[in-house]
Amino acid sequence: MIQVAVMGYGTVGSGVVEVIEKNKDEINKKSGEEINIKYILDLRDFPGDPYENKVVHDVEMILNDPEVKIICETMGGLKPAYDFTKRALLGGKSVCTSNKELVATHGPELIQIAHENKCNYLFEASVGGGIPIIRPLNYSLTAEKIDAVTGILNGTTNYILSKMEKEGADFEDVLKEAQEKGYAERNPEADVEGYDACRKIAILSSLMCGKNVKYQDIDTEGITKITATDFVYARAMRKTIKLLAQSREVDGKFYAMVAPFMISMSHPLSMVNDVFNAVCIHGNMLGDSMYYGRGAGKLPTASAVVSDVVDCARHIGKVIMCFWEGEDVVLTPNDEASRRFFVRVPAENEKKALHIFGQARVIEADVPGEFAFVTEAMPEKEFKEKAGEAGAISWIRVEEE
Ligand code: HSE
Repeated sequence: MIQVAVMGYGTVGSGVVEVIEKNKDEINKKSGEEINIKYILDLRDFPGDPYENKVVHDVEMILNDPEVKIICETMGGLKPAYDFTKRALLGGKSVCTSNKELVATHGPELIQIAHENKCNYLFEASVGGGIPIIRPLNYSLTAEKIDAVTGILNGTTNYILSKMEKEGADFEDVLKEAQEKGYAERNPEADVEGYDACRKIAILSSLMCGKNVKYQDIDTEGITKITATDFVYARAMRKTIKLLAQSREVDGKFYAMVAPFMISMSHPLSMVNDVFNAVCIHGNMLGDSMYYGRGAGKLPTASAVVSDVVDCARHIGKVIMCFWEGEDVVLTPNDEASRRFFVRVPAENEKKALHIFGQARVIEADVPGEFAFVTEAMPEKEFKEKAGEAGAISWIRVEEE
């Protein structure tokens, strides 16, 4: 029997307990041994809960119990999760986590400590919720040189953008409704400003490079400036607007960013709607592959944590390889990246804008008082200067297929 502890009995932690209980026959068979939850760590008591007798408040009971071999860290945040995780790994206990903030901030250090102590730090649930994406990157695509990862990695913003597209509604109204329905947090900043997607693409980018991509280095823009009028234009262009998190290697230079993009309706990510997430990976031999599913939620996320528990159970005393070194990757500024841009200017600036940009594809969408167009591909720095001169009302990057 393998003894497991769950640290944090919130949404994901209680989901982990539920998954292990509901699917115990499958999980035990696949693990090769019975998985038993010995402790649940939380500050609160849970009177009436079927597992209330497993709830403990003192982490030392878990860390000092030699029977505990695997810990699920579903606490979130850096403190005290970092300290608890490090101590568990130093003690040879594997840790499976859904904590993207901790993985994005201390991933390489914790992986190294795990390996030095013949145990594992696994984080399938930290990106894309229930979608298998870390394991494909680590195990399945090992014959590939991966040169691009592009994803819709945040369910809240994808829900908001999908609604704006369908209903022609403005950002603030959809956000309010999403908050009332419990789809968006009362403090939605981490989602709508792109910070959540930024942590997730930092993790995927690091696995793509095998080195550390610091989330602090990733240019991040959210969706708060996207309007119903932008979607009017998008429709006229047979495109939609998605918050993309992307990472690319071009001629030995690494680029990463999170920002809203205009994408064509024939782009595979255009079909990813509502709270769903998806990740497209481009490998030099395979070409494109795409991973789609529920990027958040109690049971999908818990399922990913438990898949890591099974992996750890199969590898007690052995290291599961993960190439993520501590050396920081130097990202190339996105100002140097070349792409096309969708631009809106006041109608009276039409001639001036066409003069400044030269070649441009004009967009007919019957928006009064405005002139809109798509530029030729150009470096972002050059574009921003020209957009300023042309008096742009707003602009959105265009993602090519
Ligand atoms: N707030 C996140 C989302 C949940 O909306 O996708 C999981 O990270």
